[in-house]
Amino acid sequence: MTPFSEDELKAKVQDGYIVESPEEMTEGYKKALIVQLTVQADTELMSAPSYWRAARYAPSTNTQVSAHAIIQDELAHANIAYRLLEDLGESKEHLVYGRQPHEFKHPYGFDQPLDNWAELVVATGFFDRAGITLLTDVHENTSYGPLKRALVKIGMEETFHLRHGEVWMKRLAAAGGDARDMVQRAVDWMFPMTIEWFGLPDGMKRHSGQLDYRLKGLTNDQLRQVWMASTVPLCESIGIDVPAHYDDGRGEFVLDYPFPCRYDATEKRWFFGEGEISWDDVFARWKARGPMNEVYVESIQRSRGDVGRWLAGQAA
Ligand SMILES: [Fe+2]
Ligand SMILES: [Fe+2]
Repeated sequence: MTPFSEDELKAKVQDGYIVESPEEMTEGYKKALIVQLTVQADTELMSAPSYWRAARYAPSTNTQVSAHAIIQDELAHANIAYRLLEDLGESKEHLVYGRQPHEFKHPYGFDQPLDNWAELVVATGFFDRAGITLLTDVHENTSYGPLKRALVKIGMEETFHLRHGEVWMKRLAAAGGDARDMVQRAVDWMFPMTIEWFGLPDGMKRHSGQLDYRLKGLTNDQLRQVWMASTVPLCESIGIDVPAHYDDGRGEFVLDYPFPCRYDATEKRWFFGEGEISWDDVFARWKARGPMNEVYVESIQRSRGDVGRWLAGQAA
């Protein structure tokens, strides 16, 4: 029996109270925390096959090993988040191995193929920056003590991933020619995809309880601004175009394209010219999942499959 009512717990956490165990949680708090941790864990987990598939395009042994170090970190981050879910009564075994691909809660960006080295480094520059933006906010504001402490290690490692991405974006852009063009092409599809990742605009946001329970501190639009405040100047400084700019009058970053808009995953292309679409259309695209969803999930889950059959396949 929880010692607090929903309203009491909301008031306490807004006042700085830190929750340490499930016994202190209300049903609403626990449910909101499980949703948040599942998204976090699944995002970390699915970044691994996405990056692993792209690491083969590394230009040298040492750079490939750096990419693999990032992937190892991501698997460890996933393990931490699933382990925290076990404290809340969830089964890690089921979450990793027992779900269908479409049941995972990671963002649409990690359902996409990364087809060259430039796409991998823009992914670590953009997607890991999104991860840091979201998790830094959680670290600073969460009322759940075990998660707050776990995020210290995760944050330090994410900083390495981000540096890797940004250093390589600069290096490829400075090289000019095809290398620069590949970065631009990657940015063209990954910039709007990361913008979309932060979800519904604040004016349309459905109430999730994450702010009330102090599981996060910033709203979706605030998080989008934090992400753009790093990403837009970075791209501008290396001569890469992005469809957003800082508006002095408004004192914030603004998008130069209709948001949200249609995306073709096969062509990796946004249709700015068609104008704004509805968020229901976006949710339908997310729900249908992207082209690599089943491949990535299967690549993780196969380690629980029949090893004998796998060995026989190798010998054939
Ligand atoms: Fe991570
Ligand atoms: Fe990362």
